[in-house]
Amino acid sequence: MASMSKTACVVGGTGLMASLLIKLLLEKGYSVNTTIRDPGNEKKISPLSALQSLGKLKIFQADLTDDESFIGPITGCDIVFHVATPTNFASEDPENDMIKPAIEGVINVMSACSKAGTVKRVVFTSSAAAITVNQLHGKGLVMDEENWSDAEFLTSKKPPTWGYPVSKILAEKTAWKLAKENNIDLITIIPSLMSGHSLTPDIPSSISLATSLITGNELLINHLKGMQMLSGSISLTHVEDVCRAHVFIAEKESASGRYICCAVNTSVCELAKFLNKRYPMYNIPTE
Ligand SMILES: NC(=O)c1ccc[n+]([C@@H]2O[C@H](COP(=O)([O-])OP(=O)(O)OC[C@H]3O[C@@H](n4cnc5c(N)ncnc54)[C@H](OP(=O)(O)O)[C@@H]3O)[C@@H](O)[C@H]2O)c1
Repeated sequence: MASMSKTACVVGGTGLMASLLIKLLLEKGYSVNTTIRDPGNEKKISPLSALQSLGKLKIFQADLTDDESFIGPITGCDIVFHVATPTNFASEDPENDMIKPAIEGVINVMSACSKAGTVKRVVFTSSAAAITVNQLHGKGLVMDEENWSDAEFLTSKKPPTWGYPVSKILAEKTAWKLAKENNIDLITIIPSLMSGHSLTPDIPSSISLATSLITGNELLINHLKGMQMLSGSISLTHVEDVCRAHVFIAEKESASGRYICCAVNTSVCELAKFLNKRYPMYNIPTE
């Protein structure tokens, strides 16, 4: 697929990765439709308004839980990037705050793709959380695209932030089921924890987490340790590499299935040692 004069829809344009993906698509000559939840939120929309100087970017209102709202932005598009996901990690009701809306979002976006009749490929952003959380760690297990996280373990033991991996597992599985039933060309990308720069007005939660050893935020350092305990490693990727992977996969006709997008697998301790050596002025604890 050539990139010139194609139209892509990016679902959830205010997010860390989505806003950089929109920038990349515009720079490559795509026309872009994006969806946002709250058009009245000037602060969140201003980075997108600024991107309108790069090319044809239309902004639509849509909520993952609103089954009609994706018809407008998706109709006429060649490619749909379903990036948005609820990330209310502190929720006391992850079932309703993360899991249900993530699944509903997939159903609504895929349904709009089917109805549109123009969509040639859907790229769904999954997460390493959908493949790495199981009880097999410490046994030299290497994760690949065949793996799924253990939803039964997560829902019964409820480790901290369990709702997020469950939402990503079930959303991705729903996407595969609907793709098969409706003959949709679906590809899923499975990024690890993203870091890098951001266009968003507030610091995205994943960047706060990835840089917690530098900022010294104890709570987030503990989340990093929890992530290592649950998944067996700290896996990192630059957000712009994830964006490039999305566009590459969207354009590569022969691509199919699931693709892990991960630059490095390390541990909290190794990461601390690496950062301490490179940035001694931050006195990063290495024990
Ligand atoms: N960041 C990472 O380290 C990482 C790692 C692996 C995979 N991923 C996956 O990559 C994707 C992008 O992650 P990100 O960190 O860039 O996301 P993010 O910055 O947390 O943004 C999430 C986006 O989803 C939107 N959203 C949430 N609930 C919604 C709803 N009910 N209706 C419509 N939109 C809704 C948010 O809109 P509002 O601005 O209105 O809240 C926001 O645009 C996600 O699918 C995530 O699971 C991320």
